[in-house]
Amino acid sequence: MIRPIREQGDPVLAQMAREVLPEELGTPAIEAVIDDLVSTLRSTTGVGIAAPQIGESLRICVVDRPLTILINPVITPIGSEVDVSWEGCLSVPGMRGEVQRAQTVRVQAVNRRGGKIDAIWTKFRAIVAQHEVDHLDGILYTARATDTQPDGSLRSRKPHPSVEQPLGERVAVTGRKTFVVDSEKPVGGKQYVGFTFEGRGKLVGLRLQPGSAIVSGVWLSGVRLRKSGYKAGAAEAAIAGMEGLHLAAGDQLRIELQVLKKHRIVAEADVDFT
Ligand code: NI
Repeated sequence: MIRPIREQGDPVLAQMAREVLPEELGTPAIEAVIDDLVSTLRSTTGVGIAAPQIGESLRICVVDRPLTILINPVITPIGSEVDVSWEGCLSVPGMRGEVQRAQTVRVQAVNRRGGKIDAIWTKFRAIVAQHEVDHLDGILYTARATDTQPDGSLRSRKPHPSVEQPLGERVAVTGRKTFVVDSEKPVGGKQYVGFTFEGRGKLVGLRLQPGSAIVSGVWLSGVRLRKSGYKAGAAEAAIAGMEGLHLAAGDQLRIELQVLKKHRIVAEADVDFT
């Protein structure tokens, strides 16, 4: 469930969050918090989120790319090198700030199954980890920023538009597969093709026939991948850059189209499942 993101001034963001007890791991309550953190993060342009940001004063945070769930994280700076970067925060919309952080950190935590995480992170990932763990201590980056400036790039992404009936859906299981969505009869107007993938994998090819339809949007699990504004005849080009997209279990890839004439639409996606 996508939850509202608490913003600066909300008391939960200023609290020291409590540790998750070992016996709480795997309980429906904790699992729901983790799932909601991931869903909420994916509905935004952010790269990390912490439980207090959805109103849960618990030591749980998520760092994306790749998606990593940290429970009871402890961060220890390694060495004295620092990086200065412009940070943003979903709880402080419309602003960025210059913050100095350790360049390399040791991250110790447990995952949602209680497995130990003990890793060395550097640069961007180290910065995100330090930012998220600060949230668990009731600290916003604005308290550390040496400079701030307005910025509109951190925001919630637009949700799915309402659409007509889908042309079809196919579900993937394992291995290298090609998925075909076929409208079977000519269609026109606003349509979408949707693929639902099961298992982790990588998109290695995507084709759309005819290529003359106008792509008005591409979404992966509700997150808009590209802005609209594709030109007529640009369908092939618009989806060409989707190769290499990493897919998680349950991800839905959706391509919204304007089909100008009556056409039979065929979409094919090649996926390597790992
Ligand atoms: Ni933040």
